[in-house]
This record gives sequence, structure tokens and C-alpha cells, in this order.
Amino acid sequence: MGFLENRVAAEMAQWSGFRAAGLDAEKISESLARPPKAEMGDLAFATFRYAKEAGAKPNEFATKLAEGAKPRGLIEVIEAAGPYVNLRLNRRAISSDVLVEIETQSAGAEPQDWRFGDNVAGKGRTLVVDLSSPNIAKPLAVHHLRSTMIGYSIKKLRESQGWRVVGVNHLGDWGTGFGKLIAGVKKYFPELAERAQTEDKPLGTMTVQELNETYARFNKESKDDEELSVAGKQEFAVLERYIEALLSKEALGEGGPVDAAAREEGIVNFRIWQHARDISLAEFERMYAHLGLSFKLWPVVDAAHAKVLTEEPEAFYRHHCIYVGESYYVTAEDLCRRLIADAVENKVAELDEGALLIFTHGKDKPPLILVKSDGATSYHARDMAAALYRKRHWGLDEMTYVVGGEQKLHFSQLFKGLEMLGHEWAAHCSHTDFGLMLFQQPDGKWAKTSTRRGTAIMLEDLLDEAIETVRGIIKEKNPELADDANLAERVAHAVGVGAVVFNDLKNGRRNNVKFDWEAVLDFQGESGPYMQMQYVRMGSVTGKFREVHGEPIFEDGDPDRLGLDEEWKIIQQLAAFPDAVAKASAEFEPSIVARYLIELASLTSTWWTVTKDTRIVGDDKDLSLARVRLVNAIRKVLGRGLTLLGMSLVERM
Ligand code: ARG
Repeated sequence: MGFLENRVAAEMAQWSGFRAAGLDAEKISESLARPPKAEMGDLAFATFRYAKEAGAKPNEFATKLAEGAKPRGLIEVIEAAGPYVNLRLNRRAISSDVLVEIETQSAGAEPQDWRFGDNVAGKGRTLVVDLSSPNIAKPLAVHHLRSTMIGYSIKKLRESQGWRVVGVNHLGDWGTGFGKLIAGVKKYFPELAERAQTEDKPLGTMTVQELNETYARFNKESKDDEELSVAGKQEFAVLERYIEALLSKEALGEGGPVDAAAREEGIVNFRIWQHARDISLAEFERMYAHLGLSFKLWPVVDAAHAKVLTEEPEAFYRHHCIYVGESYYVTAEDLCRRLIADAVENKVAELDEGALLIFTHGKDKPPLILVKSDGATSYHARDMAAALYRKRHWGLDEMTYVVGGEQKLHFSQLFKGLEMLGHEWAAHCSHTDFGLMLFQQPDGKWAKTSTRRGTAIMLEDLLDEAIETVRGIIKEKNPELADDANLAERVAHAVGVGAVVFNDLKNGRRNNVKFDWEAVLDFQGESGPYMQMQYVRMGSVTGKFREVHGEPIFEDGDPDRLGLDEEWKIIQQLAAFPDAVAKASAEFEPSIVARYLIELASLTSTWWTVTKDTRIVGDDKDLSLARVRLVNAIRKVLGRGLTLLGMSLVERM
């Protein structure tokens, strides 16, 4: 199945035993695996499946397959052992193959251009990834980091397998909560509400934090105040009516149904809402820039990007994700309303005390709420409309939602609801769920909240702290680098942010992530900084060779000189990279690549320990060149792997 297996299988398919049994390279490759112990060989062909098909005993079948096969090319020793055909490979031939493949695929100057591990299997197919998707008027919290980075890595992984991937930020900019925010602004900041009568940006210098506090204060007060509670709902209804009318065709034409009074009432709410959205987006943008992501507002209106989108859509979707606010589905193309009408007409939804419900999981399970009893659209309705829009607009083959495990029910209802409406493609939608980010409390227990403030941890604080710490380490450990202020800042940024990202992605996504600063920034452990440091070190090994022996011509490095078992293990690990990437991509599981890289770094570090006395670069030029060639290949794979996780690389640190 993998790079190595495919090549070896192609040779085995020539043997008379396999030919007689009708086993072609593909079938052989599928049954090749690494035996549990190195003594048994480098690869073993398991006969069970085909012996059964042939009605033969596995042991005898194995003997027959191996009969008459002559070891040559990539294969050095062939041996039937019980139900297996064990193979010892020709290290020289394989090493040469693997190195040449990495070198030719990764000849470009930038890690983004390194292609070893890429595949075209997904060509012509489209995946929509719903990622990040924070709510406006609320600061980004750490769980948004998980959705953002897992989603971003999935995007890169699928792209590496030939897919077109549309990354969509389903911005939470709609819902009854915004009625409370508007009511709060009117109640606590009447002068701002006044300003909204005439000005487009009435909220002045309010920050996301302040918006959030305004909402929270109103929410709390309205809990036991019926009048306030009603006011909150009404403010949202006014907003929803306004925006629907504003964007519907009727209203745009002459003499539309929006009377002047409704307009006047609505525009205040609209302006408050829109400004709150702008303020939030500006803050989100800062955070995404930190993380290296670019989002463009949808529909794309600014001329430069619209041009790229029309002329080179593939490039557009590769370089950018898009924001499509939930509000978009209420307004554009009247999607929500059409969806609701459809659900009623087809008797999929039923009326219940003014609300419209879909019983997706039977009468005794909580239903999907399509329209709330106060007439407002629901989170579910907007998600359904979004799914239809995406299907129609991008003709998606698959769609996945990278959202925390706590929304499991929401998504299973969503998919079921779509199916009930006759959208069979809902079967290709999935929820890529993930666990919580946990922080240690003074009593030693792990919980969702911060020790210091007893509140959710803000993503910005977390990243700032990581960058600040790395800055300190650079000053202390590498004063020479610190002197180059610009470069030092770039390194602190890449390493600090990378530390947080790697910590997030290194374990299976469904696990909770314990956030422990020591481990996150441990330059020796299974950490982002360690991986980046290994990468830098590999670059300087080549530098060292250059100093001692002149410019290395990697292709001249003789794989025959790589005789150590540690080197062979590394070669085998390198050969396994394409498989790891393909698997991570198929399963939406970036940790498969992260674990792979940890293993690669660990094998490399063992090799370096073993070669201490001869050193990677020593007096023997040929030996040094062969080894530097291997180091270079490892560096390319490590670098490519880290970029697939969404990390930025540095050349010094
Ligand atoms: N805005 C939601 C939240 O912050 C997440 C939205 C996830 N995506 C979706 N299509 N429902 O919890």
C-alpha cells in the first residue's frame, strides 16, 4: 500500500509463484506489512486471504509462492515462514530509491513546494471544511484554536492528496443573543444607541471584550425580568425583519413592503449589529494572522480577490478560507425561508406551540428546532441552509464540520434532517469532533477554565504568553540571534505559536488536551520547539559539510555507506511518510502526521547519538556526504510534515 510496499510488490508480481496464483502487484501490496520483529525480515506477505480464496492451507500456499523466486533488485532474501513469505530487502537499492524520490519531489526552495507524500488520488473532488466558526461579540477562546488548527491541517492534508478544499468559517453572527446585545447597548449606552440613528459606526471604540460584557450583563439581568427578556427577543425580531426586507428583491424594487417606520426602527439595530460584527472581525483577523490563516468575506467583493476567484479559483481556495456569516443564509437567496417552506410542504416539519420541529430521532428524542416559537430562525435552520448552499455552490463530494464533541447531537440531527428532506448527499457529511483543552487548577485537577481569572482562557493571551516566553529563551540562549531584532521576532513568533499548535495536534483529536506550559515549550520533549529545533539542526549539518568539504552534491552521496541499522530504520520511516499523510487525510486526523514526525525525530536523534564518534560530518568526505544526504532527506520530510500541520518553519533559532 505504501511507497515501499508498492515497489516491492511490483517485483514480486514477476515471480512465477505469484503469477501462477494470479496475484498482481496491487493485491500483493495490500497484503504486505512490516513484521513485528526485525529478525523476521523487513516486509512479510500474509497469505491468509488468498490461500482461503484458493482453498489451500496458508503454510503450503506460502511455500508454493516462494518456490523458484530469485532474490534480485530490491529484494535480497525470500523465505516462506509458516503462513508468511518473509522478505529481507536490499538496503542499498531501497535507500537509493527513497532518497532519489524525496530529492526529486522536494527540489523546490520552499517547504510549501516540497511534494514528497503528495498524491493526486483526490483530483476533481471537493471537500468543504467548516472550521473555526467563532461567534461575534465574544473573544476567541482556546477551543477555537482547536477547531481552527485541526481544520486548517485537514485542509492542507486533503489538498496534498489532490482535493480542492473550501475552508468555510461559519461565523456566528446571527441568533437571538444579538437581540440581547442590542437591548444591552440601548439600556446601558443610550448615547451610542442615539448615535445609531445617524451614524454607520455607532459603537465608537468598544472592544469585543466590552461587547461581550454588555451582552452578559443584559443576559443576567433579563433572567428574572420578564420585561427585559421580551425586549431582547423583540430587538432581534426587529433586526431579522429588517435584514430580510432589506435584502429581499421586493424591498429593493420600487414601493417595497418595508414601510418607513419599520426601516427607521430596524436601521438602528442593524447598525449596532453590523458595527459589532466589524469590531469582532478585526479582532479575529489579528488572531488568524498569528496562526497564518487568511479568511475572505463571502461573497468576495474586493476587486483584486474577486479577480483571482474568477480567474484562478483553485489558487483562491488554496490560499484563502472564507467567512460566510450565519446571517448570510437568512438574507441571501432567501435560503432559510425556502428551506422552511420545503420542510412544511413535505410534512417533514411539524408545528408545535408556534415552533416548527423535525423529529429526526423519533418522537421520544429531542427534536431539531427549525423555527423558534417567537418566529426567529434557529441555529439548525441556518446550518441546514448553509449545507444546501455549499452543496449547490461548490458541488461538494464531502463535507466535514470541525466542531467540539459537545455538539454531537446537533450534527447528527442536522445530517438526519437533511436526509429526511431528501438530500441523500448528507451521507457524505461528517462531524470531525474533538476533545477539550484543559488547564491545571491550584488543587492539581484539570479543568476547562483558567487558574488566574476563573474564566475561559483567551486565545490571544495564550499565544502572547508563548511568544513572550520564546523571546526570553532566545535572548538567554542565542544572543547573536537576538541582536537581529527582526529575525528574532519572526523566530519567537513561529516557535511560540508552533509550540501551541503542535501541542494541540500531537494527540488524537478526540482526546482532551492538557495544556501544560512546561511540556508545550520543552525544547527536549515531544514538542513543537523540539521539532523545529531538529529541523534547524539538520540545516546546520549541511552548513557544516559546506564549511569542511565544500558545497555538497547530494546525488553523489553513496547509499552503500549508510550501513548502520539506525540509518536503515530512518530510510524505512521516510518511505512510510506518504502513507501517514494519506491516512491522516482520509481520517481527518492530523495527529497521525504529528506522531509520525515525533518518531522520525526520535530515530534521527538516536542515530546522531550512535554516530557521535564518527560524527555526521567528519574527515571521511564520502561517508560524510552519504550521511548529509540522508540528513537532507529527513529535513525535507520533517519540514513538509510540519507545514502540513499548519506550522511555520525557521532556519535559525
Ligand atoms: N459558532 C458555533 C460556536 O461557536 C460553532 C459553529 C460550528 N459550525 C457549524 N456549521 N455549526 O459554538
